[in-house]
Amino acid sequence: MIFVTGGAGFIGSNFILDWFCDHDEAIVNIDKLTYAGNAETLAPLAGDPRYGFAHVDICDRDAIDALFAQHRPRALLHFAAESHVDRSIHGPGAFVQTNVIGTFALLEAATAYWRTLPAGERDAFRFLHVSTDEVFGSLAAEDAPFNERTPYAPNSPYSASKAASDHLVRAWHHTYGLPVLTTNCSNNYGPYQFPEKLIPLMILNGLAGKPLPIYGDGKNVRDWLYVGDHCAAIRAVLERGVPGQTYNIGGWNEMTNLDVVQAICNMLDEHEPRADGASHASQIELIKDRPGHDRRYAIDATRIERELGWRPAQTFETGLAKTVQWYLDNPAWIAGVTSGSYRHWIDSHYA
Ligand code: NAD
Ligand code: TYD
Repeated sequence: MIFVTGGAGFIGSNFILDWFCDHDEAIVNIDKLTYAGNAETLAPLAGDPRYGFAHVDICDRDAIDALFAQHRPRALLHFAAESHVDRSIHGPGAFVQTNVIGTFALLEAATAYWRTLPAGERDAFRFLHVSTDEVFGSLAAEDAPFNERTPYAPNSPYSASKAASDHLVRAWHHTYGLPVLTTNCSNNYGPYQFPEKLIPLMILNGLAGKPLPIYGDGKNVRDWLYVGDHCAAIRAVLERGVPGQTYNIGGWNEMTNLDVVQAICNMLDEHEPRADGASHASQIELIKDRPGHDRRYAIDATRIERELGWRPAQTFETGLAKTVQWYLDNPAWIAGVTSGSYRHWIDSHYA
């Protein structure tokens, strides 16, 4: 069996749901259920003997040790994190706590457990750390995309805390020999993404007739990857990745924020036209920029394609169409996550 941390969040829950489509190997999901964790997403797995849930903070070393002793996993896939850049600007403490201290606690617990394994199981054990392209900092328009040799230059409290966790993971391999794998992925989008992030926020605000707030001049560039493709890449790295190696994961799909929001508006115009006949793009508002806003991220995903045979299956058009349709079809999930604390965040952040 395997452990997944943060499996009630956006990418972790997609990973777990996808996993059981063609695996019977059990998963225990270790999640503290912060505002970003939603147990409802995994409700379809209730009663499934392959799925277990542990309501545990990854910083709680004793609880993590007990889970290792009880379940004896062959791998730990580490998704749990504080993940929203804007929140990291307002309150960086939780990011250092979960992303740095939490990863440290997991590494310590995993290493202690791994040392007790018989030789064959010890060689086969994997600690797979899910990280971000934001650790590499910001690119100018003419710069080559990030590859696995790009120096780290994190600029936000979020990316700095993720960079710190990547360094700890690297050191635990180099110093103690723990068989680690690290992935650095670009911006994900898809079903079950909490609507504080760009794409779901724009879909929901668009449908509600609210402003579509874009920071600065709207020309910041991100690489966008459909979440199902990210999950497939993680499975490939888990199965075939070389311990100690890092893998960049991206969609070969750089877009400005304005182009992303325009594409969403076009789809909303098609599926849910406004009563007044205007385009949803009329709701776009350029607002005060995010402090320290990275200008451009781009990923060179050649290594994972060449060495592990992974490439994204979705284009931005097909992935976005699935995503918009999912948000249209799932009002109950949306109502469940856009609770009082969510509305408070939106009101205070965009005030
Ligand atoms: P998310 O914020 O949607 O979910 C995070 C999950 O971690 C939640 O279920 C939350 O309850 C849980 N969690 C937070 N603190 C915890 C703690 N102390 N103990 C246990 N559980 C805790 O995040 P996401 O978008 O699904 O991202 C998952 C991982 O992928 C993160 O490590 C993130 O850095 C990385 N990543 C995300 C993206 C993206 O575009 N979303 C891109 C690249 C990498
Ligand atoms: P986000 O989804 O927060 O991801 P990240 O900052 O980790 O890349 O934001 C993606 C891009 O969209 C980023 O350039 C910031 C921008 N953005 C807006 O312009 N308006 C918004 O309301 C949000 C949430 C993001």
